[in-house]
Amino acid sequence: MLRLVGIFGSPRRDGNSDILLNSAIKGAESNGAVVEKIIIRDFQIAPCNSCGGCWEKGVCVIDDDMQKMYPKLVDADGIIVASPIYFMGVSAQLKAFIDRCQAFWARKYVLHLPIRDDGRIAKGFFIATAARDTGEGLFTGAVKTIKAFFHVLDTQYMGDILCAGLEEKGVAGKKQELLQQAFDAGKKLLV
Ligand SMILES: Cc1cc2nc3c(=O)[nH]c(=O)nc-3n(C[C@H](O)[C@H](O)[C@H](O)COP(=O)(O)O)c2cc1C
Repeated sequence: MLRLVGIFGSPRRDGNSDILLNSAIKGAESNGAVVEKIIIRDFQIAPCNSCGGCWEKGVCVIDDDMQKMYPKLVDADGIIVASPIYFMGVSAQLKAFIDRCQAFWARKYVLHLPIRDDGRIAKGFFIATAARDTGEGLFTGAVKTIKAFFHVLDTQYMGDILCAGLEEKGVAGKKQELLQQAFDAGKKLLV
């Protein structure tokens, strides 16, 4: 049984990144993956306060919903992250979630402990949606953030779907080609 975690980073339900993430999830499920979707906005996740607590044991000392997320990330064979582009980066909700993974960074680089006890490398995929049609570097910042996140989590960046020109809520649902692309990406991620 292969486990996929879909991390939904937009505060807007049924929006563009939600629609594409759902397609990717359907694709993964069509290939037998067991999928859990994490809707970040439904959880209380404080930003990292740089207290340095994780440097001692590799675990975050802030007691909130992020504590439920760490084991899901460790158990995952695949991780798909979906986010809108906000001011050239990922959403604030997703960024807080990622920053709290500094505990994994400490585990790996300060304490020299494995992320997964069996040394497994997970597979990662990124879906981003933006309103602007084009623009130099529209996705560059977000892609770098997700690559760093995956790297810390011993997760290989397998690819991305970066969709410009999606302003209106839900317009991604009318783009058959994009929906198919997301479905196919989810389907083949864990193969
Ligand atoms: C706070 C905020 C900042 C945004 N910043 C950008 C931006 O820098 N570039 C861009 O192209 N679109 C920007 N957008 C538009 C969204 O990225 C776009 O509408 C996206 O498709 C929304 O995805 P969602 O429906 O999944 O939330 C911004 C939207 C909001 C609300």
